[in-house]
Amino acid sequence: MTSEPGPAAPDDAAAHVLAFYDRHPISAADVLWRVKEARGSLERLKPEDVFPHDQDHYGGLAANDELARAAGIRSDDLVLDLCCGLGGPARYQALSRRCRVVGLDYNEGRIKGAVDLTRRVNLSRRVRFLRGDAHALPFPPETFDAVLSQEALLHLADKGKALAEAFRVLKPGGRLAFTDWIAGAGLTDADRAMMWKGIAAQSVQTINQYLGLLRAAGFHEVRVVNLSALWVPILKDRLAMYRRLREETCIRTGVDSHAEYCSMYEAFVGLVEKGALGGARFAGTRPGARVIRPRRRGEHGAAPGSPEASPP
Ligand SMILES: C[S@@+](CC[C@H](N)C(=O)[O-])C[C@H]1O[C@@H](n2cnc3c(N)ncnc32)[C@H](O)[C@@H]1O
Repeated sequence: MTSEPGPAAPDDAAAHVLAFYDRHPISAADVLWRVKEARGSLERLKPEDVFPHDQDHYGGLAANDELARAAGIRSDDLVLDLCCGLGGPARYQALSRRCRVVGLDYNEGRIKGAVDLTRRVNLSRRVRFLRGDAHALPFPPETFDAVLSQEALLHLADKGKALAEAFRVLKPGGRLAFTDWIAGAGLTDADRAMMWKGIAAQSVQTINQYLGLLRAAGFHEVRVVNLSALWVPILKDRLAMYRRLREETCIRTGVDSHAEYCSMYEAFVGLVEKGALGGARFAGTRPGARVIRPRRRGEHGAAPGSPEASPP
């Protein structure tokens, strides 16, 4: 068993996670500011204009492609992006896989930002967003063909419950694929406490703990790819990006608001370099035969109130 960081009560813990994203260096306003800097205006934006700035996970668009492959996403699939943030990966999957995506996030600011960015790039018909908690998904059973998540389960108090929810909303034969931080050898309680304070990580699992949670939730064909070595240069680049953002924000607003975030991030990079922290991609299938039904134009046949009732 890993020890949990900090004695926060559930409500305090949720508030800490919310507050972390309310003041996160990557916000919808920052994304738009950087897009405007890059192309001079925000008129007639294409999703591709925003992709360099709206992906809040490690490995950028290539990581989205790997995740989509691990989840076996096909065109017209209905995909849930769990803890979708500003919706960058959801927009990318909808565009590159020609699937429909529902993004769910607990943070209202993230959802408002995701809706705004998606409207600006004209993808609102295929990508919808909803505020909700990954521990209790507001969807009927067997709704989605695939469930994805990136660098988000670390924030959840009960990862087993969230994985069981992902299993419940997947159709038989549907596949979950997610990436997340993992604990390596030598991660101390002090490191865990720093991850709680610094990036609102409620707990960090080892690879074996995650495999156990996936199997306990009912998943079959469970797979894992250790990405830790790949994450080292990615995290170093990310640190450089946060340092640049800190400077830009300082110049723009006159306030050095990201100093603490940058110094904490330096500590994370050190932990990843020495192998105490890392990342991995996990996937698992909800057993059962996948029914692939050709969809006719205008037809969706979903239960009322489900996301499919008004398909993106
Ligand atoms: C690192 S961001 C990932 C964003 C997105 N996956 C991406 O790659 O751009 C993690 C997200 O998890 C969300 N989150 C944290 N706890 C949550 C919960 N209990 N239910 C749903 N979303 C949650 C946060 O609000 C945040 O937007």
